[in-house]
Amino acid sequence: MSRDATSMIEEAASGYIGATILFSAFELGLFDALVNPMSVHTLASKIGAGAGGVRRLCRVLGAMGLLELRGDLVAPVAGATEALARGGDAWCVVRHHQRHVLPLFLHLTDALRTGERQYRRWSFAETPLGASAYEELARHPAELGTFLGAMDRSSRGAGVALVPLLRERGVRRLVDLGCGGGGVAREILASMPEIEIESFDLPAVCAIARARCGMEHAGRHFIAPGDLLAGVDARGADAVLLSGILADFDDGERESILEGARKNLRPGGHLLLSETLLDEDGAGPMGAAVLSLVMLLAMRGDQLGAAEIRALLERSGFVDIQTKRAQPRDIVAARAR
Ligand SMILES: C[S@@+](CC[C@H](N)C(=O)[O-])C[C@H]1O[C@@H](n2cnc3c(N)ncnc32)[C@H](O)[C@@H]1O
Repeated sequence: MSRDATSMIEEAASGYIGATILFSAFELGLFDALVNPMSVHTLASKIGAGAGGVRRLCRVLGAMGLLELRGDLVAPVAGATEALARGGDAWCVVRHHQRHVLPLFLHLTDALRTGERQYRRWSFAETPLGASAYEELARHPAELGTFLGAMDRSSRGAGVALVPLLRERGVRRLVDLGCGGGGVAREILASMPEIEIESFDLPAVCAIARARCGMEHAGRHFIAPGDLLAGVDARGADAVLLSGILADFDDGERESILEGARKNLRPGGHLLLSETLLDEDGAGPMGAAVLSLVMLLAMRGDQLGAAEIRALLERSGFVDIQTKRAQPRDIVAARAR
């Protein structure tokens, strides 16, 4: 084995170290406490930990560029420290990995052996367990809020990427099925003053999405409970958006979701998908490959490739199917037959 391969393996095998250090600092509330420069002792007493250990922790966090350690003084780094404090840009992302994703990956071997989803491993999961990871999350508003914050972060840019297509197709009334925290809709509304969006999701999600969306686009953005597996009634839409949805579900469920989407469109109406697609040969890219494991660990579905999406859409009554590689997610556009 070449040295390069060994270095690469070493890097992958030690990848947990940075994450667990960050999780520990998070659990201690270190980034919330570090609002201004202070001594290591002051910081340690604020977060209820020993000064010797906190100094060691700060050394690594300093090397990661997340704070600055100089002698006995520890100081925030502009942009980084406040992003990690409660309410900061990265807070939900880190907490989501700590609370929701890591516990699943610690049981990847079980999932691979048994094919069973692992969200029962969440420390907050109840007995009896919710029928889906989303149902389980919906019982725990703080966890759901974190999840939706992280979703909005990972979807950042997805709404902006859809705007040229929505404009080109003259979409004025858009139905957004499974809106999550509403971030994708917010981006579209901010760029298109002429558009109106109806967003649907599970009831517990809607409450949080409304709070996240605030009043900025009131009068043009309506958020209502709706089960996309049972079908949502929003007839007469120019377009239906499914952003980050289809991969979560199995084949039969995807067909019901698409059937429900089609019912809300007149013939010729537009379907837009924002999905992380696998390459045609199914071998990558890395982001889609990792998400595919997350699906195995938590959901019933899997990532799809462009050919699978095409076949699925054709079966579900859609034509003129176009696929485009885009960031942060790929885009598929089609028309109702
Ligand atoms: C991966 S998130 C995507 C959120 C958002 N569209 C985005 O792109 O950021 C999937 C969303 O589907 C919602 N969802 C799952 N099952 C659902 C159902 N049966 N009915 C309505 N929404 C559902 C979840 O609550 C979650 O908000």
